[in-house]
Amino acid sequence: MRVAVIGVGHVGLVTAATLAHAGHEVAGLDHDYDKIETIVAGRMPFFEPDLAGLVAEQLRSGRLRFTHDPAEAMAGAEFAFICVGTPSRPDGEANLLAIEKAARTAAQHAASDFILVQKSTVPVSTGDRLQLLIGEISQHNFSIVSNPEFLREGSAVADSLNPTRILVGADDEAVHARMRDLYAPFLKEGVSYFATDIKTAELAKHACNAFLALKISYANALARICDVSGADVASIADIMGSDPRIGRAFLNAGLGYGGFCFPKDIAAFKSIASSLGYEFSLLDEVVKINEEALQAAFAKIKDVLWNLEDKRVALFGLSFKPGTDDVRDSPALNLARELISAGVTVSGYDPEAGPAAAAQVDGLEVCNDPYEAAERADCIVICTEWPEFTELDWVRIKGICTRPLILDGRNLFTSEAAQVAGFTYIPTGRPSVNL
Ligand code: UDX
Repeated sequence: MRVAVIGVGHVGLVTAATLAHAGHEVAGLDHDYDKIETIVAGRMPFFEPDLAGLVAEQLRSGRLRFTHDPAEAMAGAEFAFICVGTPSRPDGEANLLAIEKAARTAAQHAASDFILVQKSTVPVSTGDRLQLLIGEISQHNFSIVSNPEFLREGSAVADSLNPTRILVGADDEAVHARMRDLYAPFLKEGVSYFATDIKTAELAKHACNAFLALKISYANALARICDVSGADVASIADIMGSDPRIGRAFLNAGLGYGGFCFPKDIAAFKSIASSLGYEFSLLDEVVKINEEALQAAFAKIKDVLWNLEDKRVALFGLSFKPGTDDVRDSPALNLARELISAGVTVSGYDPEAGPAAAAQVDGLEVCNDPYEAAERADCIVICTEWPEFTELDWVRIKGICTRPLILDGRNLFTSEAAQVAGFTYIPTGRPSVNL
């Protein structure tokens, strides 16, 4: 089947390569000329494990191509996937301008009947808008589908090749049949296909992301109680998680959630709920607890270092989560900003996100090497749980920092490991080890 993917960012590029891998003829379209040239030259516009290999393989197969020419992308396309960003407006409402432009592009350049597949995360009823918009423009028959993605940065390729489920909202059984054909290689492997109406699919995506954020905030609220009482939040999460009704995933306390999706999706969900007459105040608490998680880390640093001026803090991990160079809404960078404005000298190291972080935070000393970042530090803060941090020579780090102190904002280490290396260890919601 022939597919055009409009927008080749984190979602679109992975989706295009995955659909080509599934045997379809895919054209990736983006108005960003440099991005298309970068991809065609075999480089990825961002770091995502295994993506370069998958894209190269599919380019070689001849099933995947990239263009900035909409007519070329839409020529013969039976499906047009919209994979563009839906950032927040200042009041939290989702800005859907890129969606509108992408839909116009598809409708104006379609050469035959097509199905418009809306993959970006959008507020419920966006499909109605698209129906009206395309109805005004298109010379061809078309159908609208909502097909939200559930891939996570850092494991996007694996998530996309082995999806937990395929969710498709369409208002017509014949359209579902076409979508089942498109996803046939996955359905043959036993992946569930959830067939709903368009609004249910749109709302389900917001419901999933907000619920995951709620789980994280629940764990962070528990961590605040554990910090004071001396109980262990990680053990509590294990105990809770062993109940299949709860599940262990997304119960890791730490610096809180960040990234491009959760913060904006929660704001957008709250905004659309409010405009529909429901004040989703539970989501306000989720956001508040998330902010408190970062404040708690800042307060611990202040408590342990006393006067912050003239102190040096090293941040290990700058991306919003491991496995990505994405620093959008990264808790690490928010912490860096707070520390810098309190007079702290802040150095930072990240295996992938150094350049992106340096471009975002004035005054942050980004180092290419963790040992350089740790030099003369009064405190090392683990902001992102990159697994390679456990492999570092912590005895060497103890020798070069001013004070052997780790504040573990992601509970990456065990207190035993920190003790062996000779550090005072302050985890999150778990008992500290004072040397
Ligand atoms: C998320 C959704 O998981 C994905 O389904 C959707 O398609 C896009 O948004 P992503 O933003 O890539 O994916 O990252 P995710 O793994 O969900 O993590 C989000 C944030 O939550 C990160 O900052 C992470 O560090 C934090 N997190 C996650 C926790 O603080 N604790 C946890 O237990 C899990």
